[in-house]
Amino acid sequence: MTPADLPAHLLLGSCDYPEHVPQDRWAPYAAQQRALGLSYVRLAEFAWSRLEPRPGEYTWTWLDEAVETYAAQGLKVVLCTPTATPPAWLVRAHPELLAHDAQGRVREFGSRRHYDFASPVYRDHSRRITRAMAERYGQHPAVAGWQTDNEFGCHATGRSYGGASAERFPAWLAAKYGTLDALNDAWGNVFWSMEYSDWAQIKPPILTVTEPNPSHVLDYARFASGLIAEFQAEQLAILRELSPGRFLTHNFMIFETGFDHYEVAAGLDFTSWDNYPTGMLEFFAPPGMAEEVKTRFARTGHPDLVGFNHDLYRGVVGRGLWAVGTAQTPQPTPHSPQPGFWVMEQQCGPVNWAPHNPLPAPGAVALWTAQAWAHGADVVSYFRWRAATMAQEVMHSGLLRHDETPSPGHAEVAALDTAQLPLGPVPARVALLHDYESLWLYDAQPHAAGLSYWAQTVTYYAALRSLGLDVDVVHADADLSGYAVAVAPAITLVDGARAGRWAQAVAGGTALVCGPRTAFRTPGGGTWEGGQFGPLAGLVGANLLNYDSLRPGLAQGVGGSFGVYSAHTWAESYRLTGAQALATYQGGPLDGQAAVIRQDNVTVIGAHSDALIRAVLTGVLTGAGLPVTPLPDGVRLSRRAGQVLVQNWNPEPAEWNGQTLPPVSFAVQPEAPHA
Ligand code: GAL
Repeated sequence: MTPADLPAHLLLGSCDYPEHVPQDRWAPYAAQQRALGLSYVRLAEFAWSRLEPRPGEYTWTWLDEAVETYAAQGLKVVLCTPTATPPAWLVRAHPELLAHDAQGRVREFGSRRHYDFASPVYRDHSRRITRAMAERYGQHPAVAGWQTDNEFGCHATGRSYGGASAERFPAWLAAKYGTLDALNDAWGNVFWSMEYSDWAQIKPPILTVTEPNPSHVLDYARFASGLIAEFQAEQLAILRELSPGRFLTHNFMIFETGFDHYEVAAGLDFTSWDNYPTGMLEFFAPPGMAEEVKTRFARTGHPDLVGFNHDLYRGVVGRGLWAVGTAQTPQPTPHSPQPGFWVMEQQCGPVNWAPHNPLPAPGAVALWTAQAWAHGADVVSYFRWRAATMAQEVMHSGLLRHDETPSPGHAEVAALDTAQLPLGPVPARVALLHDYESLWLYDAQPHAAGLSYWAQTVTYYAALRSLGLDVDVVHADADLSGYAVAVAPAITLVDGARAGRWAQAVAGGTALVCGPRTAFRTPGGGTWEGGQFGPLAGLVGANLLNYDSLRPGLAQGVGGSFGVYSAHTWAESYRLTGAQALATYQGGPLDGQAAVIRQDNVTVIGAHSDALIRAVLTGVLTGAGLPVTPLPDGVRLSRRAGQVLVQNWNPEPAEWNGQTLPPVSFAVQPEAPHA
């Protein structure tokens, strides 16, 4: 591969479903896609019943012809393994492959994602259909790469709570703990007489009278994540063998929590994700987001919710666990030169699955595409080519309406000048640390309505973005060298090794900022004997003193040299062993106690207040020599390849830097040293 083979700018594609329309539509669709400037088409992720209508009876001809039809227009094909939708004949022959929900009920056939990742018989069939497809299409010149399955975890399918998964869990625990005494001790099962005397007594952590033991929850999450990683690895091994030179990816989901993405992405060339900004705001907004904010951004989605997911998925392969203790580094491919990431499904009109599904604002589809580029996407592929005329998603939009006329989104794609959007690095100097184990533990016991791991993490992310910074979201154990600032908003689980890495980064000159509840919990799910910070106590120069969960309307004053603020939802205080207090609580039970502390280059913020967080971050960023550019609400800057994308997500014009930005618009400008 030489740099000359790499695309120079953003490429586009769409998700198409030849099996949903008569064959006489295929050639016109392919020609129209080409005319629209699309380069890729994704096919067949739900097509198992058409590829193998009866056991062992493969019907490839239609897909052969479809691939040839797109290839004839010069489109490259992304083929998918169809394992998100085991067909009826397979399910009825092997009902034991079905998954169980968190109520312990069987998840029936009749939609999708109804399988249990642990099912041995399903594993066999997953490998078999993957091999059959890869043998057929693996070396086809039009096939550029593969997507495994579809959106692991979607519809809460990351974990099955019965059947095959439940059967395998005790053996996983036995391998991890060796003895029941060790497990009982690690989980603290003496509390409430939860001790086990036989591995077979242990079940998934559901249907308990009150909350299950968080250590049990944490281990089940780890176990289930490992199953998905195994499932995917089996497909990847077959595709690597039979489809050399093609990229392998998976389309991850917005804010998905059902598995550790770094673990599951380990064998991929790059990550993809599915970007539905309006659905995301309605369906996945963190608890605590104000209704006014949701209404304001109803037709665009919120820039920081979308931006966070872009930055997350850019880092899952590009600088995730890949960079930690392994020699493996993803290699550039012609499809992903950074490697960056793809948006495999990009909303291009209203969705059908949120509580409210408004029409996107004029300009939103173009803005979403440009934002994806600026955050590192190399390809944006729209979902879907034509709106479906049958089944569950008839209310969903496409680039073509149901009657095949172009939708408003189509017109925006047609007007896009992708030559303006060159590929290249995203120059982030700030790392936001993220870790799924912390997420699982935090969300098992949020301790305040309105708090969640994502809520706390996105609060810090949004604060950084509102100050004009580009952000890499990286694994909490990633190599931090080169980052001026690392922010750990909600890394509640810190063991000795992680504390050591952070200390090394700080010694190397990276400023570290931690949010509340950092290092509160042990890898087993308990708390440190010596209190919060455990192995991090030396680095932060403090221990936890008190924590306060604040109901709506119950505020806590906090003040320091940089101002006086009103904290909401959460406030924790510290006993100082070396750190200085930059701010203390004013009034209430925490009166006079340390709220924001600093030791050398390490700062901890104990309370929730957007303004306080922004003020503290401004000081840290400025101290680290980074340019801080406070931005109006809904105005965002994202930099890539020497360009800056100036975005206005507001439904009205915005003033910024002497420019009037039209509503829902963007401009690509050469990056000024400090705008
Ligand atoms: C995605 C999914 C697609 C389609 C789409 C609708 O989550 O991968 O298959 O259902 O949502 O917005």
